Order: sequence, then C-alpha cells, then structure tokens
Amino acid sequence: MSRAWNFVAGPAGLPECVIQKAQEALWDVGPGAGILEISHRSAFFDRLMYDLDAQFRRIGGIPDDYDVLFLQGGATLQFCQIPAILTRPGDHIDCIHTGFWTRNAMRDAAFYTDVRYAYDGAASGFEHIPEDSEISYSENPRYVYYCANNSFMGTEWQRPPLTRYPLVADMSSNIYSRPIDVRAHSLIFASAQKNLGIAGVCVVIVKHEFLEACQPEPRASMFNYRRLVENRSMLNTPPTFALYVMKLMLDWIDGQGGLAALEVRNREKAAIVRSAIDDTGGFFRHVGEPQCRSLMNISFRTASREMDGLFVAEAENERMLGLRGHRETGGLRASVFNAFPVEGCRVLAEFIREFARVHG
Ligand SMILES: Cc1ncc(COP(=O)(O)O)c(C=O)c1O
Repeated sequence: MSRAWNFVAGPAGLPECVIQKAQEALWDVGPGAGILEISHRSAFFDRLMYDLDAQFRRIGGIPDDYDVLFLQGGATLQFCQIPAILTRPGDHIDCIHTGFWTRNAMRDAAFYTDVRYAYDGAASGFEHIPEDSEISYSENPRYVYYCANNSFMGTEWQRPPLTRYPLVADMSSNIYSRPIDVRAHSLIFASAQKNLGIAGVCVVIVKHEFLEACQPEPRASMFNYRRLVENRSMLNTPPTFALYVMKLMLDWIDGQGGLAALEVRNREKAAIVRSAIDDTGGFFRHVGEPQCRSLMNISFRTASREMDGLFVAEAENERMLGLRGHRETGGLRASVFNAFPVEGCRVLAEFIREFARVHG
C-alpha cells in the first residue's frame, strides 16, 4: 500500500530519497559497519561532522563569527539552557509572547532569570504577530526572546522584530524553510524533527560576541556552550543516526536549490491549501490574521468541533493523517514542512473543497 499524506506537526515526514539512503546506511555506511554501530570517535564520523557543519553554514549563510552546535534535549532543553547559560544574577529578559511555545519557554526561563513581557498576544487570541510599534522593550534586557513560527496556532513572523538588544529566536518549526536573517539574531535554536530531519538533534547558532559577554563563571560541561563549541558538539556521545539523517536532509535541500528555492516551493504549497479554504465561502475559516499566517502550519477550522472531528475522520479514510489541531486550540491544522510534497497539498485542497460542498 502506498504511504499516506502525512500532515503531522512533528516529527514530520521525510523525503523518500532520505528514507531510502538512511535505510541503506543501516547495513553498511562504508567502513564495513552500519550507521547505528559507528563510533562518534571514528574517522568516518569525524568527517561527517566537519561536512555537516560546513554544509549547514553554507546553506544558511551563517557568518564566521557565529558558532553552530548540534545538541540533544530538543528545543525544550534550550528553554532552560539559554537563560541558565546566558544570564547573570540581577539580569532580566524580554519576551514577545505569541502563544504556547513562548509561554512554555518563559515558564522554564523563570527558574533562572526575571522574565518581562514586551508584548502579550493573549488579547488577540494569539492570532496576531505584533508590528514593531506594538512592542515595548524594558530597559536593558539581557536578550529579547521570540518564537519565529508558532506551530501551535499557525502564525509566523514575516521578518524578525527590530530591536537594539540581543535577539534570541526559537525557529524549531520554520528553520531553513526560507532564507534566514542570521545577523539580526544573537542566538537561533531549532530542533530538527520538522524541517531538518528526525528527533534527537537541536541546532544552536550563536554569535561569539554574545557568548563572551554573557558567561562569566565556570559551569558544568553541559551548561557551557563554549566547551561544547570547543568539542565540536561531541563532548559526549552525540545522536549519531539523527546527525547522519540531518546530513541527508541538507543534501536534499541542496538538490532542491537551497533556501530561496524552498521558499518559493513552500509559498506555493501554502497558497494551494489556503486558496481552497477561501473557496469554501466561509465554511472553513483561517486561523491567524492574513499578514501573519504561517507557511508551515496551516491552521483553519469549521464552525463546530463536531464538524472539525468529522473532517479529520473523513480525511483519515482518504489517507490524510495528522489534520487535528493542537490539543490546546482544537480546530484543524495541516503542517506542510519542507519535505511535504506539492502534490499532497493539491490532494488536501481538493478534499477541502469537496467536504465543504457536501457538508456546507
Ligand atoms: C516552535 C516550537 N518550539 C519548541 C518545540 C519543542 O521542541 P522539542 O520537542 O524538540 O523540545 C516545538 C515542538 O513542536 C515547537 O513547535
């Protein structure tokens, strides 16, 4: 039986060529052993890490004065690692609060530092991403924190907020879906399982200058980015298979023509689904204001929870998986990360139109 159209919010589907190459690597990746059995201290793996780092930097246009780390613990570990490492006693940070993921991140940050809110999106039901004029920064926060794509609600920043303070971004659900303005940030982090491969790796891109300014005292190794940088992310045993799959994903991204080409493709995919929603004459409505809708997570809903449930059930019968909205928001959500094919968006768009025609 053919594979289903997989709209889950993560871990997300992978390109078929990546799955096939990963399968082949299980048996023998070259030196007579499979990728699951290779030492991270072997020449093979050492080379892989050099290549991964170089390719990741080239694709993302990451300047030389930024370090790249490939860590474990997911984005959620960064929710505490960043404030634990980068703030000092007496500091505070500013958060631009746009939903579930900034809330979770700040809940953890509050164990380490004082959190202030430069903007609170709760009043808009998190359907709005603020203009710069709507954000009120406090006096000298150590950094400003925001989430570039709110996967839970389906809203996305079209460009980073403008601030003179160091900017920290959670890009877990839109990294490498389009070109990134790295220079606007002091630190970017993203777990891999949506756009860059499988669960197990979290990328941290951090400016040297920011690390130097923030980290005065000695720290335990895992809470010391500098030691992790010096050890090229291999202070301890790294998630070898997940790193290998990330390398395959980067090869795939290169094959697609890089981030600019991916952006064109991702815009086309989102437009196919969004225009089908528009065509239903209000039977389905978009979640999120027009200027801040996500390319990665298309959130929409009908007028009732029951109708949403029926849509999910009928879609599953047609082998479309994962269309239920986030557990906190309800509604519907189609996640169409980098690897999701254009054809799958066309199938969903047709299904949306037909569903509205039958049940409208
Ligand atoms: C925007 C965002 N941040 C953080 C996370 C948490 O990532 P992890 O499960 O890797 O900790 C997610 C997961 O869905 C996410 O979408």
